Amino acid sequence: MRWKLDLRETGARPKYQCLVDFIADAIRTGQLQPGERIPSVAELARRLKVNKLTVVRAFRELETRQLLSSQVGRGSFVAGADQGPQTDGAVQEAGPVPPDIGQLVRRLRNSHVSGLVQLLALEPRAPAINLRASVPPEDSVSAALLQERCGQVCREHGQALLRYAHYGFGPLREGLAAWLAQRGYTVSADEILITNGSQQALALVATWARDGGRTVFCETPTYIGIPRMFTQSGHQVESVAWDGPELALGPVAAAARSRPGLVYCCPEFHNPTGQCLGEATRQALVQLTAHSDTVVVVDDIFRDLRFEGDEPPSLYQTLAPGRRILVGSFSKSFAPGLRVGFLAADRPLIEDLAALKRWSDLGGPSLVQAVMLSLLTDGYAQHLEKIRAHYRVRRDAVVAALEEHMPPGVTWTLPKGSFHLWVRMPAGHSAVELYLRGLEGGVAVQPGPAHDVDGRFLNCFRLGYAWASPAEIGQGVQTLAGVVRALLEKGPAEPSATGLGLPLY
Ligand SMILES: Cc1ncc(COP(=O)(O)O)c(C=O)c1O
Repeated sequence: MRWKLDLRETGARPKYQCLVDFIADAIRTGQLQPGERIPSVAELARRLKVNKLTVVRAFRELETRQLLSSQVGRGSFVAGADQGPQTDGAVQEAGPVPPDIGQLVRRLRNSHVSGLVQLLALEPRAPAINLRASVPPEDSVSAALLQERCGQVCREHGQALLRYAHYGFGPLREGLAAWLAQRGYTVSADEILITNGSQQALALVATWARDGGRTVFCETPTYIGIPRMFTQSGHQVESVAWDGPELALGPVAAAARSRPGLVYCCPEFHNPTGQCLGEATRQALVQLTAHSDTVVVVDDIFRDLRFEGDEPPSLYQTLAPGRRILVGSFSKSFAPGLRVGFLAADRPLIEDLAALKRWSDLGGPSLVQAVMLSLLTDGYAQHLEKIRAHYRVRRDAVVAALEEHMPPGVTWTLPKGSFHLWVRMPAGHSAVELYLRGLEGGVAVQPGPAHDVDGRFLNCFRLGYAWASPAEIGQGVQTLAGVVRALLEKGPAEPSATGLGLPLY
């Protein structure tokens, strides 16, 4: 059979999917016969000028559909014949297929963190002091304001709100470009896509990266929705450790010599530590984008929430054009329920992402996007001033309470913006147990393993101070300090019991 297939221009359709269709079609029409040997992954990748991962994904899907079968050491064959052709005429026994260890490890990682996410849905028994939330307090935006702006945008934009806006409501793309210009970014309106929150922006990036066979590196600890989403999109995510304010980029630099990469980071007031990325890492990322096929995703979701210190230029601005993606959102600086986020990149990268966006949802709701535009032009800057002061007072209250109540050996970060910080107990003490004991005392925190795809950071927890009043913060931290003291007295946990350092309940 002639393997004549051009996978260079497949538009929004993933390359591996086109290859699946091509092979499935060849089997259906008899060009490929049962038992016939398929060229190897490396051979096919070379002939079709695609990444090997693309071929591996296609083979996996064809195996799931029982159109191909693989035999270790012999290759892949069209299914439907008991055995592929023998090289020496001898009949060989097809041995048991060995387990795919990668798949099993991935399943273990997933189940570990999913179980923890279920545990986190527990409600406190006593009236709760919420030191867990990492979203703005709901009363920071009045319903009356939203109602007024909805009326206003309907009068102003009328029928324009009723049309599809595949890449986002046009005037918001313009307004956002102007707002970003005031914040030091140079991004034009047609380099911006409005998305349903930054989560959708990142999901589009994940699809794009998968089709390009990029290895994904994600900072850790991190907002767990990032590695989970990349994993869900078929990536095997590699973790890059936060080490103080810097990222340990060694493995990224090593990989960059031989394969295309994608690095995700949240450089300002990182979730969960509240730290900003150090200068050395910023410079290293600039060099990586300048000298290798590495694309850096800059998640600037917390950048508008600085309440102290000078603001550095956005990391996005300093990276090599064409190898940078900016992700933003109004979820943390205004309200998550509006689901207004965005994605910006240089051309032609933004065009690839736009094609994915268009065919994934045909566009977001223009009405809400018009409301966000109205706020951006009038009200958002004042809202930021008010909310930054709210967070600053609470950051001071948390730090004062930690200093007063926590036993020696416990340390924490000191954020200059946003609404969370990261507390570290001595190694061997379980923040999952702290979480459960805290709930009994009426305080909720976010245990560290919820911030890592591999469930590490057992002795750490995130304190979110957006929702509680300064008095509640004082009381909540005092309660937690009592639990921490009890954990320290008990001594390090036996981690083998459950993997989470928990006694078996
Ligand atoms: C760092 C970070 N990025 C992105 C998101 C996704 O937010 P959204 O989709 O609401 O914009 C979150 C949510 O918590 C986050 O913490």
